[in-house]
Amino acid sequence: MIKSLSEFEQATAQAKENPDGFWSKVASEFEWKSPWKKTLDYDFSKPEVKWFVGGKLNITESCLDRHLVTQPNKTAILFEPNDPTEAAQHITYKELHKRVCQTANMLKANDAKKGDRICIYMPMVPELAIAVLACARIGAIHSVVFAGFSATALAARINDASCSMLLTADGGFRGAKTIALKKIADEALASCSTVNCCLVLQRTQQEVQWNPIDKWWHEEIEKVGSDCPATEMDSEDPLFVLYTSGSTGKPKGMVHTCGGYMVYTAYTFKNVFQCQPNDVYWCTADIGWITGHSYIVYGPLANGATTVMFEGVPSYPAFDRFWEVCAKHKITHFYTAPTAIRALEKHPTSLVEKHDLSSLKVLGSVGEPINAEAWHWYDEHVGRHNCPIVDTWWQTETGGILISSLAGVTPQKPTFATLPMPGVQAVLLNNEGDEIEGEGEGILAIKHPWPSIARTIWGDHERYKNVYFSAYPGYYFPGDGALRDAEGNFRITGRVDDVVIVSGHNLGTAPIENAINEHPEVVESAVVGFPHDIKGNALCAYVIVRDMGVDSSTIEKEIREEVAKTIGPIAKPDQILVVSGLPKTRSGKIMRRILRKLAAGEHDQLGDISTLLNPEIVEEIKRQNS
Ligand code: WT7
Repeated sequence: MIKSLSEFEQATAQAKENPDGFWSKVASEFEWKSPWKKTLDYDFSKPEVKWFVGGKLNITESCLDRHLVTQPNKTAILFEPNDPTEAAQHITYKELHKRVCQTANMLKANDAKKGDRICIYMPMVPELAIAVLACARIGAIHSVVFAGFSATALAARINDASCSMLLTADGGFRGAKTIALKKIADEALASCSTVNCCLVLQRTQQEVQWNPIDKWWHEEIEKVGSDCPATEMDSEDPLFVLYTSGSTGKPKGMVHTCGGYMVYTAYTFKNVFQCQPNDVYWCTADIGWITGHSYIVYGPLANGATTVMFEGVPSYPAFDRFWEVCAKHKITHFYTAPTAIRALEKHPTSLVEKHDLSSLKVLGSVGEPINAEAWHWYDEHVGRHNCPIVDTWWQTETGGILISSLAGVTPQKPTFATLPMPGVQAVLLNNEGDEIEGEGEGILAIKHPWPSIARTIWGDHERYKNVYFSAYPGYYFPGDGALRDAEGNFRITGRVDDVVIVSGHNLGTAPIENAINEHPEVVESAVVGFPHDIKGNALCAYVIVRDMGVDSSTIEKEIREEVAKTIGPIAKPDQILVVSGLPKTRSGKIMRRILRKLAAGEHDQLGDISTLLNPEIVEEIKRQNS
């Protein structure tokens, strides 16, 4: 573990001078079935990246088996249910190992094999983490789909990766609501021909329909034993696929591989959070997102930490649930999203103060830029000016944290993610693609691969190349803008493409537009983000309808329903404006830049609009907006 600023500087210098030697040393701290022959092979122009080439391993041996010897009775997963009156569960490393092996045997007994894709659509219960690890145990590729996604979105993901199995639950508890997961899964499976087995966990005991391919989890698990040797995997075999939105309607299935992902998530967890043996670490994300994969499951477990899984929401039964759980389990590390902080900040601080938060040592932020107000509120009321805050910048595609301070070790700076991790060569580019030296603002890019970079998009390597490696040849292009201060600290300024981060959810505007265009009355639409107090960004949809005389409130309602149905409730636009036209260039391209300014109310910062095909439409939208 890096323990001082000088050790950090040393690690950074070593990783830059000799990346192979540096990562080879880090990787040697894990369980390998046989060693790698070459540390790194890469060519960004293809693009191709391979780490720990020829190495054989199973990630679950580093996450589970090795801890059986040293700390079998330590809590691995601490589960806090949605309902505070339901008992929390402390699952030890020994028990977790056993349950993972048993679940792996259940998958095998139902014909799952190495390389198969298994879709997991489950609530935040221990069985979700166990299912993920069980897939890894047998070398099946997991594809977790967030349980807030709709049937259409679920089906698209299942079909994209031709999954052969679906793991789901009867339902899920989320605050005061129950989500009918099985019902949504049934609807999705109606259009998924590759799935031949659906295992259903009982969580809510609600009634479900039963189909020929369905089997109850609790019945199947009874039939198998708990001895399951770990399948040998190549370093570069896929570990999982996880979907993220892009600028077209089709989600991108980012593929992460076994060796590099293990090494990098574990390394960054250890050094960013600085967890000590008796600490209790809580990341409030859902395992349906990359944050949950890397920093609830794999990173913490590879380090033998105690990781909390929370089934509920911050507002249930009241807006102090997070703080109540922190006090109850004496949480030492708390990692959440700016959108959650902003939502909680709106409530009286007495809700925080009434709980004993003295166990907290480190706070974290992830998912979007954290604004100054939220940063200071977090620091003052949750951290009591006594906890370092790590603002971690990364992406589904990067697998692990690329830019962040190390808690208590490297300097923090409010609203800045600060410095790149050792081995991460972050640069700023100008529009011409030249590197900016020193202080400045530009496009963020990464020059050299790190071990957990996604290797491809499932089934579409060409798209992988186009999206991430073509705009600035020789660099990985994440799609974010950033500025850098004189000390080299980075501050992420936001997306530079058509992706909007709403409440920490990465949403492509194109799939939302496609959903809106499904409405029979809609001719064309454009969706843009605009700043929002709590969500960070909110969505505004401009729609052109066939008949301007129609009742717009009905259309608005139907559009929201359509978006919820095809993507999920998180993508519902906050604002819908029925307009008679959209500002376009002469070549017919919608000028989203102008729509973004209009949605943000920045009417006087539109720049020159005279080159538009239809400048008059801008005046019309302005009038409508005010
Ligand atoms: C996008 C990636 C990282 C896991 C959760 C989101 C934004 C993420 C930060 C941060 C500023 C951030 C970026 C990035 N983002 N973390 N600390 N500061 N922006 O993963 O859904 O793949 O979204 O989230 O715009 O590109 P994701």
